[in-house]
Amino acid sequence: MALSASSTLTFDVRVDERDLRAALERDARAGLGGVQKSLPPTWFYDEAGSRLFEEITALPEYYPTRAERALLERHAAAIAGYARSDTLVELGAGSCEKTRLLLDALAAGGGLRRYVPFDVSATFLKASARELSAEYRGLHVHAVVGDFLRDLDALPSGGRRLVAFLGGTIGNLVPAQRRRFFAALRTNLGPSDHLLLGADLVKEVPRILAAYDDAAGVTARFNRNVLAVVNRELGADFVPERFEHVVRWNARGQWIEMRLRSERNQLVHVDALGLTVPFARDEELLTEISAKFTPDGVRAELVRAGFVVDRQWGADAGEFLLTLARPGPRR
Ligand code: AVJ
Repeated sequence: MALSASSTLTFDVRVDERDLRAALERDARAGLGGVQKSLPPTWFYDEAGSRLFEEITALPEYYPTRAERALLERHAAAIAGYARSDTLVELGAGSCEKTRLLLDALAAGGGLRRYVPFDVSATFLKASARELSAEYRGLHVHAVVGDFLRDLDALPSGGRRLVAFLGGTIGNLVPAQRRRFFAALRTNLGPSDHLLLGADLVKEVPRILAAYDDAAGVTARFNRNVLAVVNRELGADFVPERFEHVVRWNARGQWIEMRLRSERNQLVHVDALGLTVPFARDEELLTEISAKFTPDGVRAELVRAGFVVDRQWGADAGEFLLTLARPGPRR
């Protein structure tokens, strides 16, 4: 049968509801039980949070999504020309809009066969996998529900793979996590595979701050939504309005910090954990870091993990950076 007539749809599940629940419990216990309170940004993205994030990407102040899309529009053909991949792997596959730019470019080269969306959320993955499988006739869609910090060994093997890690999500990781992630990725890639990395660039601090503290207050609602998630999932009694959205530039780490600052002394109970969490007035809960990079910094981190950088786009005076890399010789 002609390839163009047969699409297939496969799902691998490495992370199920119970794993997610256990991870949230662990994160909440560790993050709310300690002195320096924090919650990882993973938990922003329930249905409401994902909708708010989509809203953020359309805000006048939030430049990264538009900047990355413009780079992909301009350079997807060149990227496809370098990588000549038959498989597009997308880590943290959120909305499919940027995916299409890459799929179209690879398809135009004639070699595209397979799309591997990889995400921790089965719900979103199912929707986008079905959509793209219907849209691209003959494309094998092999979705993997997994955690990209843990399950990279679950990536389907074979062919020439282009692993896209877009959106600037790499910025959510602290340097030690980035080192581990890049090293694990290097280990799981073969000589004909490529990595396409999207990273936000360091720029004037006021512009970065505005991108995370928009005038319409959407990012503030996004930030507070994590409290609603903990309320719903773990039976907590956070009153989100009693926490103020705070954004700060961390010059030493070169990252933005989003925090929630307690407006008053208050006690929060987390039923499922049997935990009472005291918040002092003005005490802050760290909810996200979003690191900003220089082109040389990205290159150095990749080289250190054993990659060779083919090319960077957006490096001269751009707002956002795309880096195409491939595994270097094993050292
Ligand atoms: C999806 C992680 C790339 O860090 O800019 C947007 C998330 N947080 N506004 C980012 C986010 C606040 C976003 N990433």
